[in-house]
Amino acid sequence: MDMTGATPLEALKALEREALGAISAASDPAALEAVRVTYLGRKDGRISLILRGLGELPPDERPAVGQEANRVKRAVQGALEAREAEMAAPSEATSEDLTLPSRPAWKGAIHPVSRAMDEIWEIFRALGFSRARGPEADTEWYNFEALNTPLDHPAADEQDTLYLEGGGLLRSHTSPVQIRTMERYPPPVRILAPGWVYRRDTYDATHTPVFLQIEGLVVDEGVTFVDFKATLTEFARRYWGPGTRTRFRPSFFPFTEPSAEVDVKRVITRPDGTTEETDWLEIMGAGMVDPAVLRNAGYDAERYTGFAFGMGPARIAMLKYGVKDLRTFFENDMRFLAQFSR
Ligand code: PHE
Repeated sequence: MDMTGATPLEALKALEREALGAISAASDPAALEAVRVTYLGRKDGRISLILRGLGELPPDERPAVGQEANRVKRAVQGALEAREAEMAAPSEATSEDLTLPSRPAWKGAIHPVSRAMDEIWEIFRALGFSRARGPEADTEWYNFEALNTPLDHPAADEQDTLYLEGGGLLRSHTSPVQIRTMERYPPPVRILAPGWVYRRDTYDATHTPVFLQIEGLVVDEGVTFVDFKATLTEFARRYWGPGTRTRFRPSFFPFTEPSAEVDVKRVITRPDGTTEETDWLEIMGAGMVDPAVLRNAGYDAERYTGFAFGMGPARIAMLKYGVKDLRTFFENDMRFLAQFSR
């Protein structure tokens, strides 16, 4: 067993160093098992061979060599077990740097204008409205004439409207859905119709050539101006808070008579409990449905009355969040949009 001329005790020390070095160099469980077999293998593991060969030594050397061989065997066994445990649970020294901060998780959110749409819809749904929709590419009849707007009226001016080849146009408001709904369904109707509308507007802080509108229409027997004011005031209170006030300013739309611009005044409660009133803010155009519109849609205008309204959820969102420039909603700047991800 001693090929180098060293004493058996020296040879055992050298073997121990070699084994411990091999154990710490083993990089996976298979390599570690190979080390175990080399040194402790029952048949011809190097330490096992020494223990088995004790009988060949002079009797006075046997106890010391036997003791030392057993110590080396236990040391190697202990080192193997420790390394095995280390591999099962990777530590900082052997594995990933667990102190590295993780990448922030990407959290999606509803766009503020879509959120305003959803919130507005929820309020009218609770008031008994159903959802309706109509085509974005429509005709002059639905967009203007059926809505009591002659084609030579300023509202029908080509400046305001995007015409399509073949005589169609991109609807300039959601009001055509009023006509299409009444054509399809007998009264009573109580609908909310959100959708995209198009105008030949320049892109600036308060205009975009494509924008969302929400149309509302209520027609039934006996619908009065009181129902009109009460419904829209109730909407404003549910959206902006119970202290919200509404104002109906006389206005003109060809398809409503009388017509109004609806303004709201909000009461903002500061953290210290004191309150502050905002200026009057315009939120929608509205009015009692013109009898000519009911007739154009095939309704009996002697029997039925109603009211209609149209608002822009982007404008509502601007008022709600204090946004100054409409364009910021559409430029996909994450620094701006991330402010709305609750
Ligand atoms: N369609 C009008 C607009 O786009 C808004 C409106 C809708 C006014 C319904 C009255 C009734 O400005």
